[in-house]
Amino acid sequence: MLPFCEPYKIKMIEPLYRSTPTERLNWIQQARYNVFNLKSDQVFIDFLTDSGTGAMSDRQWSAIMSGDESYAGSRSFHELRDTVRELTGFEYLLPTHQGRAAENVLFSVLVKEGQLVPGNAHFDTTKGHIEFRKAIAVDCTIDEAYDTNNPHPFKGNVNISKLEALLEKEADKVSFILITATCNTAGGQPVSMENIRQVRNLANRFGKLLIIDAARFAENAFFIKTRENNYHDQSIREIVLEMFSLFDGATMSAKKDGIVNIGGFIALKSKEIYQAASTFNIMFEGFLTYGGQAGRDMAALAQGLREATEFDYLESRISQIAFLGEKLKEYGVPIQEPFGGHAIFIDALRFFPNIPREEFPGQSLVIELYKAGGIRCAEIGSLMADRDPVTRENRYPALELVRLAIPRRAYTNNHMEYTAAVCGQVFKNARNRNHGYRLTAEAPIMRHFTMELEPIEF
Ligand code: F0G
Repeated sequence: MLPFCEPYKIKMIEPLYRSTPTERLNWIQQARYNVFNLKSDQVFIDFLTDSGTGAMSDRQWSAIMSGDESYAGSRSFHELRDTVRELTGFEYLLPTHQGRAAENVLFSVLVKEGQLVPGNAHFDTTKGHIEFRKAIAVDCTIDEAYDTNNPHPFKGNVNISKLEALLEKEADKVSFILITATCNTAGGQPVSMENIRQVRNLANRFGKLLIIDAARFAENAFFIKTRENNYHDQSIREIVLEMFSLFDGATMSAKKDGIVNIGGFIALKSKEIYQAASTFNIMFEGFLTYGGQAGRDMAALAQGLREATEFDYLESRISQIAFLGEKLKEYGVPIQEPFGGHAIFIDALRFFPNIPREEFPGQSLVIELYKAGGIRCAEIGSLMADRDPVTRENRYPALELVRLAIPRRAYTNNHMEYTAAVCGQVFKNARNRNHGYRLTAEAPIMRHFTMELEPIEF
């Protein structure tokens, strides 16, 4: 078989500045050791997120030029709605300016104080929107997800017996069930069709809605095609349609598998929920046919959704992640396996076994990778996990990960080789260090975006 190869070529480039180690040392100090405070010009390779950072195609840019900016009834809205209908089967569409806005609008309808929202691990803004309404996000991800060495092919799966037990005990408190596919918090890990179907059966038995956080639905479909029995011969679009048929609705951050720089939506089967959500959409986002997006944004998104559900694109995307994963393994860097769909996750507890958790080993690694190679990435660990809303104690999640999130179609495999070499160098030179950082400032919720740190000297 021939090796994979990108089904596109590069038409436009964006220069990057290769800084010196001394410059980076100064910049990270000035940023108070929070990489969100760095200017992008201070970053060489930006793996902070795969969200809104992808490269649009020439067809998407053409769509930008022909977008319809009418306040009401925009042609671009109808194009987007038709594309979402075709891909998901959902009748009703509410555009929003991004994914968390979709959460805000839909949860304004669905989530009440004291309720529970079980599912696989919720993304942080999702959890934030649930907790903001004084409800509880219950993580029912399978245990295998929390062993970074376990080769389970669908580590985003929901633990069915755990969910069933919760429903048997507290069904009246459950607002709805949420599956995030792929499961970002568990490492960009996919959810199998079989698992979604089992959750659907439970939802039916207990009369609950089942919603998908669809930010990376196409990458999830690729894993179903390549890893799950009976799906090898199905097209990505067939799999996508079957996946969505098992849900009642979706929230979408289009900045991921929509391959656009901004955008999101809610898609629903139910007219009643659509109508209830419409009021909140008009209040928070904009009129029903734009919801915080320009017409041109919706036009580019419709095209992006079509491109993201092509097999050749997904194969090159997922193979690039795997390429980085294999290189990191060659350097001995402890990473989560199987590799995720949008990112490689380094296991910071195995990378820095001597840094106590209260000194944030994950963030310590983020800082080291920046200092060594100008690579910016994100901690998905105890900083992001925030404090318990009731006790205000630090929460320590099962995994302390550092995420190298790869923007879509933006970097080449040379960038991956460079990144792996930088990680390998830090692993070789610094893995025995035994101190990290302490917080000097933090916000009451979602603290990782704005917190400030200082190094604990040793
Ligand atoms: N759901 C998932 C699974 C996400 O990964 C994100 C964002 C959101 C919802 C919120 O969407 O950013 O458009 O408001 N994830 C980004 C990330 C920020 O870096 O993983 P948004």
